Amino acid sequence: MKKILVIGAGGQIGSELVLALRHRFGADAVIASDVKENCPDVLEGGAYAQLDILDREKVRKYIIEESVNEVYLLAALLSATAEKNPDFAWKLNMEGLFTILDLAKEGYLKKVFWPSSIAVFGPTTPRVNTPQYTVMEPSTVYGISKQAGERWCEYYFNKFNVDVRSIRYPGLISYTSLPGGGTTDYAVDIFYKAKKDGRYDCFLSADTQLPMMYMEDAIRASIELMEAPKESVKIRSSYNLSGCSFTPKQIAEKINKHLPDFKISYSPDFRQAIADSWPMSIDDSHAREDWNWKEEFNEEKIVEIMLNNVNPELV
Ligand code: NAD
Ligand code: SER
Repeated sequence: MKKILVIGAGGQIGSELVLALRHRFGADAVIASDVKENCPDVLEGGAYAQLDILDREKVRKYIIEESVNEVYLLAALLSATAEKNPDFAWKLNMEGLFTILDLAKEGYLKKVFWPSSIAVFGPTTPRVNTPQYTVMEPSTVYGISKQAGERWCEYYFNKFNVDVRSIRYPGLISYTSLPGGGTTDYAVDIFYKAKKDGRYDCFLSADTQLPMMYMEDAIRASIELMEAPKESVKIRSSYNLSGCSFTPKQIAEKINKHLPDFKISYSPDFRQAIADSWPMSIDDSHAREDWNWKEEFNEEKIVEIMLNNVNPELV
């Protein structure tokens, strides 16, 4: 029987992933957990455990005693927050991964999902249609931690047969929960500000093109990868995954079709250098070939859904 633990469930991805997993496998099969003391309202339909992934012994005890056999490990500091606190970002992003990989190595976990990011690429990577296998010299602490994590995932698979699966998520766009401190957060913020103030001052320049994806696609991809037959999962570092790619100027133009008075201005900050080191678009042909990945949401659909659903009171 499946017993899934989602660690970092209170964040942008976790709060939607837990609901999707409960819908698919039943509420009893999915435990949400986070360092936050109280269960986020949206996750109240099932079990919640307050767990700090850095408390290795407590996490081990919980997983063993509750007979958890699958983990989705989402707890991490994202790119912009990590640059402000590099030591802690390295600690959080790496130590938690080892705790979970070791439990899988010891046979307690059958499968592990751990997300990587487009941040594994760097300024020397080809930026257009970035291939799965290419130069990878990340220049952020976040990117370095994700690249190291990918290497360790592949190592644990090769040496210890740990069934770990991973996706290099692009920037994720959603309206149920606010993003947690990334460089791609502008592509969520813009919708809140468009509805609330009719204007948005963007922290990236007009023509900064980045890969993006609607959350529903990202959640579906994660579950499809986890449910794919083991032999289909040929990449054990992390899969490139593509949804769409756009610039702040292009997304503002699409918003203008719905809100003609909306205005955007640009005040690039430290996040511009991060964005400039990342791909503009992604080649995800391996994910398409190995486990039949296909995105469903393009920019037009995303803009329409976001404008219809964001609650401007949240910001
Ligand atoms: P988020 O910041 O929104 O959520 C992270 C959650 O982890 C938060 O609820 C936080 O309380 C929790 N957490 C923090 N420290 C913890 C600890 N010590 N123990 C337990 N929980 C802790 O992040 P997210 O956007 O949901 O991202 C989840 C994962 O996906 C991360 O690994 C991130 O790097 C990756 N990712 C996200 C994106 C994106 O656009 N959102 C893109 C690429 C990769
Ligand atoms: N959305 C993430 C970030 O900007 C990409 O990993 O940090």
